[in-house]
Amino acid sequence: MKVALIGLGSVGRGVAGMIAKKDLGITITGIADSRSGLIDGGGVDIPALLARKKEGGFCGDQTISSADIVKKADYDALIEVTPTDALSGEPATGYIRSAISRKKHVVTSNKGPISLFLNELRMAARKNGVALRYEATVAGAIPIMHTLEDGLAGNEILALYGVLNGTCNFILTRMAAEGLTYEQALMEAREMGYAEADPTYDVQGIDAAIKLVILANTIWGNGVKLDGVDRTGIDLLTADALRLAEDEGCTIRLIAEAIPRKKILRVSPRIIGKNHPLVVDGTLNALTLETDMAREITLIGRGAGSVETASAIIGDLLYIRDRYVQRA
Ligand code: HSE
Repeated sequence: MKVALIGLGSVGRGVAGMIAKKDLGITITGIADSRSGLIDGGGVDIPALLARKKEGGFCGDQTISSADIVKKADYDALIEVTPTDALSGEPATGYIRSAISRKKHVVTSNKGPISLFLNELRMAARKNGVALRYEATVAGAIPIMHTLEDGLAGNEILALYGVLNGTCNFILTRMAAEGLTYEQALMEAREMGYAEADPTYDVQGIDAAIKLVILANTIWGNGVKLDGVDRTGIDLLTADALRLAEDEGCTIRLIAEAIPRKKILRVSPRIIGKNHPLVVDGTLNALTLETDMAREITLIGRGAGSVETASAIIGDLLYIRDRYVQRA
């Protein structure tokens, strides 16, 4: 299967590195970062490209843009992992629309287009007979979309509760365990590359709310939007509040919850018992689904990180390879 990859930040480099390392039958024929692009129908030399990038060099030719790759390269699936703009969804939405109109499958980790335009993009993909996959947009490596569509097929999802932001979870864990201040813990999260380019998205609960919107629209197709989420972040939480919770055998986690029967769509810091399944440490995410047949299912895994997110993207690519490309 031939793929084009646009975006060479932490996620894009993780995906490229894993495609080069593993024998997946996937060839990258077009690749671009924000400054340059490269088209090679025979397969881009990824190790050489990553080495060039590491030294601050260009990934390819400065006259070739991401849009050129999307429009001109020969590929079966576009991997779109450019930075998220949650307000406009651009330029990612334009790339995705353009690839779908060329009847190319799309795999994205980009929360902007999926939280804003999921129904429209899904309909366009269906009309063109291609797949739109976005496992990596929610909860990093946790295969939540695969679980919903395959493992829990036929179940009615009644509610969901989760820790969906690795940065906040990391900050809360470090504050409670090491007594770090909020500022110190946030600085660490940024240094480790977990936080969004603008970390206010993490700490104000916006990133978790966007993921909740994606999950709600995927499960219930109810067209909810970011401003429909009742949201409080962890930015005003003090070390004293955490200490008080700890004194009572509890802790604080930023919990996202969607309960349609109660019209609840909320992200907020919650005091919960330390043995609760949603009390996970560091950048782990956790998600409990309440269903009619399977009852409660809790999934736990790494919610952020380069290779962890690459895992979700590669799962989507192989889904497309096995169900669409090899059958064509
Ligand atoms: N900043 C996000 C987080 C990255 O911390 O969860 C993964 O979406």
